[in-house]
Amino acid sequence: MKISDIIVFLFLLQLQLIHGLDENERQTYIVYMGDLPKIQSTPLMESHSNLLSQVIGNEKIARESMIHSYRRSFNALAARLLPEEVKKLSEMKGVVSVFPSQVRNLHTTRSWNFLGFPTTARRNIEGERDVIVGLLDTGIWPSSPSFNDKGLGPPPSKWKGNCSNVGNFTGCNNKIIGARYYRVEDSPPFSDIPSPIDVVGHGTHTASTIAGDLFHGASLYGLANGTARGGVPSARLAIYKVCWSGTGCTDTDILAAFDDAISDGVDLISVSIGGSSQNYFNDPIAIGAFHAMRKGILTSCSGGNDGPNEGSVVNVAPWVITVAASATDRSFRTMIRLGNGRKLTGMSINTYSPKKKIYPLISGADAGNASSIAYGYASACDYLTLDTNKVHGKIVYCLDGMGGQDENVKASGGSGALIQSYTEMDTAFSFVLPAAHITMSTADIVTKYINSTKKPRAIIYKSVAVNRSAPFVADFSSRGPNDASVKILKPDLAAPGVDILAAYTRLSTVTGSTEDDRYTDFNMMSGTSMSCPHVAATAAYIKSFRPDWSPSAIKSAIITTTKQMSPLRNQEAEFAYGAGQVNPAKAMHPGLVYEIDELSYIRFLCKEGYSDDLLAMIVGDVKVNCSQLRPPPGYDGINYPTFQLQVASGQHPVSAVYHRTVTNVGTAKTTYKVFVNSPKGLSIRVAPSTLKFEHLNQKKSFKVIVKGTPLRLMRMFSAEITWRDSAHSVRSPLVVFRSD
Ligand SMILES: *[C@@H]1O[C@H](CO)[C@@H](O)[C@H](O)[C@H]1NC(C)=O
Ligand SMILES: *[C@@H]1O[C@H](CO)[C@@H](O)[C@H](O)[C@H]1NC(C)=O
Ligand SMILES: *[C@@H]1O[C@H](CO)[C@@H](O)[C@H](O)[C@H]1NC(C)=O
Ligand SMILES: *[C@@H]1O[C@H](CO)[C@@H](O)[C@H](O)[C@H]1NC(C)=O
Ligand SMILES: *[C@@H]1O[C@H](CO)[C@@H](O)[C@H](O)[C@H]1NC(C)=O
Ligand SMILES: *[C@@H]1O[C@H](CO)[C@@H](O)[C@H](O)[C@H]1NC(C)=O
Ligand SMILES: *[C@@H]1O[C@H](CO)[C@@H](O)[C@H](O)[C@H]1NC(C)=O
Repeated sequence: MKISDIIVFLFLLQLQLIHGLDENERQTYIVYMGDLPKIQSTPLMESHSNLLSQVIGNEKIARESMIHSYRRSFNALAARLLPEEVKKLSEMKGVVSVFPSQVRNLHTTRSWNFLGFPTTARRNIEGERDVIVGLLDTGIWPSSPSFNDKGLGPPPSKWKGNCSNVGNFTGCNNKIIGARYYRVEDSPPFSDIPSPIDVVGHGTHTASTIAGDLFHGASLYGLANGTARGGVPSARLAIYKVCWSGTGCTDTDILAAFDDAISDGVDLISVSIGGSSQNYFNDPIAIGAFHAMRKGILTSCSGGNDGPNEGSVVNVAPWVITVAASATDRSFRTMIRLGNGRKLTGMSINTYSPKKKIYPLISGADAGNASSIAYGYASACDYLTLDTNKVHGKIVYCLDGMGGQDENVKASGGSGALIQSYTEMDTAFSFVLPAAHITMSTADIVTKYINSTKKPRAIIYKSVAVNRSAPFVADFSSRGPNDASVKILKPDLAAPGVDILAAYTRLSTVTGSTEDDRYTDFNMMSGTSMSCPHVAATAAYIKSFRPDWSPSAIKSAIITTTKQMSPLRNQEAEFAYGAGQVNPAKAMHPGLVYEIDELSYIRFLCKEGYSDDLLAMIVGDVKVNCSQLRPPPGYDGINYPTFQLQVASGQHPVSAVYHRTVTNVGTAKTTYKVFVNSPKGLSIRVAPSTLKFEHLNQKKSFKVIVKGTPLRLMRMFSAEITWRDSAHSVRSPLVVFRSD
């Protein structure tokens, strides 16, 4: 080999190495570039390709790396990039943010009556038919009786969407006026179908909670029997399937759905998907919702199911409405009887009636398979740990473990399961066989009984619905404080999200497990995923009467009319429930609203430290100069309908001034007086304390001056500011908390 050959060889080797590196290290990123350019000299798709070519330096690789071009409602692209390309792009003019695409998780009848919103509530049917709600979810099962389009005419003329990429989906009608699916990176997973059809059930459930038609006699095997309906049964649905069975919801798809929904002409968007709690412009839901807000569209989001941990709330951008999950007054009890006659109570949604008079009972701890090499504990009935011979035909008692105890017991031939619960039992779950969660003290009785006899036996009965005092926020519902903006209270409010009965898909079993063989038209599900559509429907209800109200006016109306909730049940108080529980009938009559327009959000973001250049890009202006815009006055610098004050430590006295402006949307000539409710140690003065209005849409400003002693013993203070005239009550919580 000559020297020159060796050099060429080394050169080729190096090329190969570089190329090999390419393949391995390229990852999907979203490059967000703000608003659509006002003047487009080249089509956006072409400028996206040019941008990538410029950064990657090789046209062929650039072409292969491009995944999606977002160009209907905002300017962004998705591409597979190397770390140094990400760095180059982030520093380029015109780029707001570059962030890795992540995979996100998905986070009735009685619920609307419980909210004091009966079927007989006054409705504006004509207006309702003009409201289009966009859902980003798992698709829809259109054959459900909830989605018939009886009495609905053709879609409103503003609708620009369609049902085009539908595979063999034939579900569109005058209720489901749009249905599309998004899978911009990969082919749809094997466990799903390339169509807007819902194989999971989640999207069907949320869609019917919003706009399901009335269906009498809906139940889950007779449980929760009643009339199923959405909050706005005449509204239209636009379905954007972004979440897939087995693979979850990908950022690139979520952003593509927002891009379409905004341009398609939806009036509201409901997103029951986990978002982020950090920088707003590294989060597809916050970005999408921001551009939606600019087009007059309010986005309702689930706050997450990571409670009761502090600071776990997500989807916290000030332009979205963030919803916690509350429990209604209906709960489910499952009666258990032991062989010695002792009656116990568990919690589950057990649809199975016992087939025998009594069953043998065994503890998982005594039913282990000694030769199993599976990871886990037989005492917790973990996967493959049980001995099928010992378990066959028996009810098995399991400690709380990695979950799936019911499936494992069934797979081992068991007949039932009693599962000890470590967490607070406020939510009833479905299992693949007769089963119930039991508290630790009940579990103690069970284990003592098992030890006390040679032949322990038990029986688990079908569940029954019972009353309980409510509302309260479920243990699983994510809590504040809000990590992204410490001056804004999140969640905004709570809505029913525990054991909600709504429409379901026939393509999944009740539990979603293959060990289950029950297929139903209605199913019970729990989560902030279920509470979010209750608020979206409430927003749609307001919109049906007030089509011209801004997203912030609708949001303010919903927040300031909530039903108060009690800190006795939820010690985290406002961090659990925000302003309280949604009250749809009252939300129609807020009296006063706190409005926030686009410029106000920009000024708020200036104050939060976002740069001039970044803000200029997201609003598509030539220039934004934060110092010329003047920092908005007051502690938080935003006309938010609630108040939050973070105090650095136990040494600092509490002191802040808030500036607010309210718009009269109630009675033309009226006078509001302020009522302040504040705890000892906190002084709140509102000036002026009276607001006199002469006409509708008149605006009046006031200041809120908060003073108090340092929060030494207390972690937080909860107070309230309420404006009242003879017909309206406009209530805002005020939270002071110590950052520890
Ligand atoms: C449907 O809408 C999409 C954009 O959402 C558009 O690309 C497509 O051309 C439309 N199809 C029809 C048949 O109008
Ligand atoms: C059509 O739908 C059925 C079930 O609804 C599904 O099994 C099949 O894969 C679908 N075919 C295509 C081409 O999408
Ligand atoms: C549900 O209730 C209605 C009326 O209360 C009754 O007619 C119907 O049989 C019930 N259905 C089930 C499945 O229990
Ligand atoms: C015990 O575990 C082994 C290894 O996983 C398995 O092959 C065997 O079938 C199990 N035996 C019983 C009785 O469950
Ligand atoms: C039964 O009693 C024994 C001895 O008192 C104890 O070690 C064991 O943990 C008990 N088992 C259960 C299931 O309580
Ligand atoms: C539950 O309470 C409501 C009102 O408080 C009442 O109408 C209903 O009949 C009760 N249901 C049961 C099962 O007790
Ligand atoms: C923004 O406005 C301030 C005050 O008018 C001015 O001093 C500053 O130079 C401006 N900044 C830019 C980048 O134009």
